[in-house]
Amino acid sequence: MQIISTIQELVYARTQWSGPIGFVPTMGYLHEGHLALYRQARTENKTLVGSIFVNPIQFAPHEDLNRYPRNLAHDLSTLESLGVDVVFTPSVAEMYPSGFTTYVVPEGPLATQAEGATRPNHFRGVATVVLKLFQLVRPDTVYFGQKDAQQTAVITRMIQDFNLPIALHALPTIREDDGLAMSSRNSYLTVSQRHAATVLYQALQTGRLAIEADPHSHPEEIVQTMKNVLARESEIRLDYIEIRDANTFLTLETLQPPALLLIAAWIGKTRLIDNFVLQANGTWNTGQFTEHAASHM
Ligand code: PAF
Repeated sequence: MQIISTIQELVYARTQWSGPIGFVPTMGYLHEGHLALYRQARTENKTLVGSIFVNPIQFAPHEDLNRYPRNLAHDLSTLESLGVDVVFTPSVAEMYPSGFTTYVVPEGPLATQAEGATRPNHFRGVATVVLKLFQLVRPDTVYFGQKDAQQTAVITRMIQDFNLPIALHALPTIREDDGLAMSSRNSYLTVSQRHAATVLYQALQTGRLAIEADPHSHPEEIVQTMKNVLARESEIRLDYIEIRDANTFLTLETLQPPALLLIAAWIGKTRLIDNFVLQANGTWNTGQFTEHAASHM
């Protein structure tokens, strides 16, 4: 596995690769959710490229950039064991040299509602770094997790808007055996917070069951039912529970698929997000349990 930390080296290396080229961008501290993306990408590409870069411009000043978990040595050995060919691990100065001026600014509900409302410059930071990475790696296919549903929708839209010759594969959320969605930020949780965090999954399950029981119910009723579940857990502070169109992120007056049940909540200083997708064909994408968890189901 080749580890590259400069743009100059990456641009040269790119001339040597044979296609198809798959690319999985990450901020590191890899968990089973990331590994599922790499495993899938490995089966579909000749050259598999990863990146590990904690992107400062997608964090607001009050957010967790400085304490964001990092373990580069462990990540690199994991990626090597998965058969990744190349990992790009640039420094901040390499990605944003002094004088850096140009940003990609997604607009409209897709970028300004839900996560975009709580984290106003977040998708500007994500779209900017992802476009830079796409320009450098020039992949055929990129892999993103459904857990970050809005990020995946923003990047899908950016690919369309800028006519990038890239296919995006969105893969299901990977869950711990009690339903908690895998996230690097789960490492912040204390034992009791980790226990409390399962209520996000429980609220989503309750929303799904309520919709299955009455597909004609008003989205606000479903949201209220889900809020009631979350309110049972005193350690949780709700940011939002919403039902939105999965492509546009507009709120829905009626439960029309494809729709997303979205949750964002604080547990202490940790902010977690999760979602279920009611897909266009009427089936649910609620994520997958890890192999370890599946054996206990
Ligand atoms: O999902 C992430 O890890 C990041 O937002 C991404 C896509 C690597 C951009 O920094």
